[in-house]
Amino acid sequence: MCGIVGYVGARSAVGIIVEGLKRLEYRGYDSAGIAVLHHGQLHVRRAAGRIKMLEGVLGERPLSGALGIGHTRWATHGRPSEENAHPHTDCEGTLVVVHNGIIENYLEIKERLLAEGHRFKSETDTEVVAHLVEHHLKATGRLDWAVKAALREVTGSYAVGVVSTAAPDRLVAAKQGAGSVVVGLGQGEMFVASDIPAILAHTRDVVVLEDNEVAVVTADSVELSTLEGEPVRRASVRILWDPIMAEKGGYRHFMLKEMHEQPRAITDTFRGRIAPDAVRAVERVVLVACGTAFHAAMLGRTMMERLAGIPAEADLGSEFRYRDALVGPETLVVAISQSGETADTLGAVKAARLKGCPILAITNVVGSALAREATGVLYMHAGPEIGVASTKAFSTMIVATYLLGLWLGRHRGAITAEDVKKRIHDLVEIPRLVEKTLELDGQVAGIARELAGARDFLYLGRGLQFPIALEGALKLKEISYIHAEGYAGGEMKHGPIALIADRLPVVALAPRDGSYERMLGNIEEVLARDGQVIAVVHAGDRAVAAKAQHVIEVPACADLLAPLITVIPLQLLAYHIAVRLGCDVDQPRNLAKSVTVE
Ligand code: AGP
Repeated sequence: MCGIVGYVGARSAVGIIVEGLKRLEYRGYDSAGIAVLHHGQLHVRRAAGRIKMLEGVLGERPLSGALGIGHTRWATHGRPSEENAHPHTDCEGTLVVVHNGIIENYLEIKERLLAEGHRFKSETDTEVVAHLVEHHLKATGRLDWAVKAALREVTGSYAVGVVSTAAPDRLVAAKQGAGSVVVGLGQGEMFVASDIPAILAHTRDVVVLEDNEVAVVTADSVELSTLEGEPVRRASVRILWDPIMAEKGGYRHFMLKEMHEQPRAITDTFRGRIAPDAVRAVERVVLVACGTAFHAAMLGRTMMERLAGIPAEADLGSEFRYRDALVGPETLVVAISQSGETADTLGAVKAARLKGCPILAITNVVGSALAREATGVLYMHAGPEIGVASTKAFSTMIVATYLLGLWLGRHRGAITAEDVKKRIHDLVEIPRLVEKTLELDGQVAGIARELAGARDFLYLGRGLQFPIALEGALKLKEISYIHAEGYAGGEMKHGPIALIADRLPVVALAPRDGSYERMLGNIEEVLARDGQVIAVVHAGDRAVAAKAQHVIEVPACADLLAPLITVIPLQLLAYHIAVRLGCDVDQPRNLAKSVTVE
């Protein structure tokens, strides 16, 4: 997934675009570029690597102009390099394109354009859009018509920005499939971006493009229409986030800041409003998600069964979308996605809608593609999550499924009003207990110092702690690049136990729940084979303390909410190990904050 920023107005575009790209760098950061139109000419600067590399190029060869577009890339087609960095130009260098998504039929288009004499300079799929628009601009004479004609030939997903010397007062943007385009409304200036944090310093009022739509943006106007030319009217949305919320706020990394925001984020979520009004005759729930969100979906399955008394299952978006699932109008599909732009989750939702399923979205981004696809939306109100490794979004996803379970349970008569009241009280306790658990930072940092050199980790959990074992392993993998596996404790004897030797670090989640005794057995099995145990237990647990090499004592809480507490030391452990190893915690290699491609 990539980041796009455009500007048209009276100020210099360069600084606005570069600062906006920095706020989108979490979307992709293997190369970056900018194009600005000045005195009737387009000037392009690009660089491989982070945006600071582009800033270096701009320092040596400055640009000026009041209309421009910029891009920070997560490579799909074509390795990360300067020649593959966006913006891409047409043959004459009079038109530039930036793009997020995938042009699926780019090879056949490229062959045709090469035969017509077009000269290509990159390995990317994006470059075909620049030459297609060039082709249609010669035929139509109007940039917006040329962009529409070009994109009607394209199959795939895109969020694009186009600027041409043929239209020196405007920028054309378009959207199809995953990947957002928002237009920020200023006074005598307009902004275009892939995501809200890029423009929040300039305006809170945005217009969100939907699929198959094109925006023509000048300093004073935004005109929306469909690819086929039908005018579109769209009200603007006022963003309530405070720009500072998207900054580090004095923390060394976004991830650390967002771990510490979990208490407030959890509070904001349960203050949120639930309005899933299309879930009356629900007989079954399928929760679909990817990555960390899938781990929340696994927990959500238990919330549905224990609180709402509804049979439920959790499935990976990438699996559900292709398995022709036996679902229908009686199946509520709950799609969980922080960004609301994850292609596999969106694909699963589209597949479910074709089968007549009502869709409830649990997402953190207002106006995201998922929010727009769904029948009902439950916003997490976690605030912007910038760190690629998801923390507060994960916690608030769990809270959202808990609230949904209570709401459904109440409306189905599966739980009493009294029980709901007690469960809400249990939830209100959690922010304080998370704060308390975050105080273990120093102890966990010490454990990280000892274990940062390990090559492999095993995480074990049972019941509600199994998804947390998976989540802890994912956190470690994605920010420290150490191999880590999450496993159901009961499965260890069916294979992974062969891994236990030579002080292999095994994180064992052993709160005093229904699986406690069996987890003690796992811990004994690990110790008997020279593994080293990092046990997460309830405060005061002496049995485990006498055995394990490292014991992290967390506060006890209501059983269904225990994952909100036990995940915290695992987040901290991954964070401190990654910092010790000198990894880029907020923008780990090969990853992006939202995976809008398959
Ligand atoms: C989690 O730390 C990862 N960044 C990743 O697994 C993420 O959870 C996944 O890509 C889903 O993202 P979403 O919640 O925006 O759909």
